[in-house]
This record gives sequence, C-alpha cells and structure tokens, in this order.
Amino acid sequence: MSGEEWEAADHVGHYCERADEFPRRAEGEGVLLEHVPRDARRVLDLGTGDGRLLALLRRERPAMIGVGLDFSELMLTAAHERFAGDERIELIDHDLAGPLPELGRFDAVVSSMAIHHLEHERKRSLYGEIFDLLEPGGIFANFEHVASPTRRRHLAFFVAINEPLECEDPSDRLLDVESQLVWLRDLGFDDVDCYWKWLEMALLIAAKPA
Ligand SMILES: C[S@@+](CC[C@H](N)C(=O)[O-])C[C@H]1O[C@@H](n2cnc3c(N)ncnc32)[C@H](O)[C@@H]1O
Repeated sequence: MSGEEWEAADHVGHYCERADEFPRRAEGEGVLLEHVPRDARRVLDLGTGDGRLLALLRRERPAMIGVGLDFSELMLTAAHERFAGDERIELIDHDLAGPLPELGRFDAVVSSMAIHHLEHERKRSLYGEIFDLLEPGGIFANFEHVASPTRRRHLAFFVAINEPLECEDPSDRLLDVESQLVWLRDLGFDDVDCYWKWLEMALLIAAKPA
C-alpha cells in the first residue's frame, strides 16, 4: 500500500467533487452527528481530508476545538482553505500508519472513510491509541467503508454507488464490521455497536467508560 493516490490531483478532485453525492452518506453522517455530544469541547478527526466532517460537526458546536489529521498535502491544502482564519481548527500532517503524535485528550474522536486505508493490524492498534486519548465518557465514531460478506455483494456495492470497479481505490483494506466491533469491545470500549449500515458503508460507535 502506498497511499500515493491521495497526492494525485485527479483522484482527490474526483473524490471531493462526489463527496456530497455519495449515496446515503448524509443519512449515515446524520447518525454520527446525533451521537457526538453538542458540548464536545475537543474533537479529533482522523483522515480529515478537506475537513468535511469537522465542518459538519462545527455547525451545531460553534465553540468546538477541532484537530484534523491527514497525510495528503492536497487534502490539507483544501482543509486550510476551508478553515482559513479559524483558530479553533488545527490541521496536522500525519501518516496514520505510524503511531499518533502527542495531541492531548479529546471528548470525541471521529473519522470518515479513512481508517479502511490502513492495514488491519494498524487499524487495531490505532483503535487502542484512540481509547487512550479519549476522556472518560468520550466517544469514538467511525463512518467507514467496510467489507462485504461476498464478492457478489462487493460488486453490487460498486453498482449501487455508480462507480466502475476499475475505480476501486488500490489502497482500500476493507474489513468486516464484526471483527472491528470485537476489537473495540476487547479494548474496553462500552456501548460498542454498528449504529447505521448500508451495503459497505457503516457507522461504528464506541464509548470510553466514564
Ligand atoms: C475518502 S477520503 C475521506 C476524507 C474525509 N474524511 C471525508 O470524509 O471527506 C480518505 C482520506 O484519508 C486520508 N488517508 C488515507 N490514508 C491515510 C494515512 N495513512 N494517513 C493519513 N491520512 C490518510 C486521505 O488522504 C484522504 O484524505
């Protein structure tokens, strides 16, 4: 895996242009927004891209301090443009394949369509790091691209999102929902479940015990 496509203007442009039109996305994101407390003070967004999810969270949490991590220069440039002059949003260049830098504690950690790019072992260790940097009672919400049970269902997903299979992201490392829920429970998270799902899109939520 290289992740080089996130440095390619055509790949990034194609994703950003279609982001709002992705089928059922608003529905899944809506459930995520319902579960991040309105009084969340510090929120970390992993693989923030152009800051889309932080911007959605900010609509009803104007005092929120947001930290967005990504390793794509193009995405981070777009996020800097989106949040120009906003001192409550910090953007950090970081490759999630490596351990998270020192970031302080967070009331919520969110991610949207990003963690599935990591190798499975790294997904698991990242979930452990997320547990450690959450405040007691804090929430982790991952709106994610997950694996289908069969190749047939995988092909059906690409038909449903109106993308040719040739456009499948070479850095995708899709994993089923169940394995991820088991990991989260084993790490000590509470209230672990899949809170929303449509084909290969799922919202996994887990709370750190208070
Ligand atoms: C499909 S985009 C989603 C962007 C944004 N979260 C959203 O919902 O619009 C995936 C994002 O994950 C980032 N990403 C992928 N692998 C990464 C890694 N190893 N470290 C940091 N960011 C990564 C990409 O640069 C890209 O911005």
